[in-house]
Amino acid sequence: MTDPRPPRRSAPELRPTLPSWAVVSDARLRHVERVAGLVSQWAEEMGVPDSERNRWLRAVWLHDAVRDAPEEDLRRWAPSVEGPVDLRHGAASAALAKTSGETDRGVLDAVRYHSLGLAEWDMVGRVLYCADYLEPGRTQEQAQRAGLAARFSRDPTGVLREVARARVARLIASGWPLPEPTVRFWNSLFPRPAAEPA
Ligand SMILES: [Fe+2]
Ligand SMILES: [Fe+2]
Repeated sequence: MTDPRPPRRSAPELRPTLPSWAVVSDARLRHVERVAGLVSQWAEEMGVPDSERNRWLRAVWLHDAVRDAPEEDLRRWAPSVEGPVDLRHGAASAALAKTSGETDRGVLDAVRYHSLGLAEWDMVGRVLYCADYLEPGRTQEQAQRAGLAARFSRDPTGVLREVARARVARLIASGWPLPEPTVRFWNSLFPRPAAEPA
């Protein structure tokens, strides 16, 4: 699963591609390609400039780049992160991306926090968080996911809230304490209503 593989060229409309240091299974690569396809579709529908589309796709190709690396490597690359590999691989990939020359704060934050959420995200983090969950290869609740994916370009904030509901619920179900960035992310999406005037 972690054998070196010849560099794989992604379809031109989905470029860039995986970084040279990626450690991913074939199934993971398929997932990342589907996320890239969905993100590319949203960029088209939303008419974003090529430079912004490139930021979105850079984050996609980086986000799970070391998801299948050995756990001891993930600990070494992301020593300050507690918790299971699920919560660690984003930070590890962001650290490696930074070392490899990625300087865009929005892209790095999107990658680092893609399993957790981050209140301060710009559009890159929001797009990745949604596309990672809504890509068509996931088999649970497929119709609901497809509906949200189709709605994203018209209502990114509404879809982000729906995706957060589902993803945070799964994190809670895992039994792991909610990480602090997730709590702040959640509260930023569902702020308290303003108090009624007396
Ligand atoms: Fe991931
Ligand atoms: Fe992913």
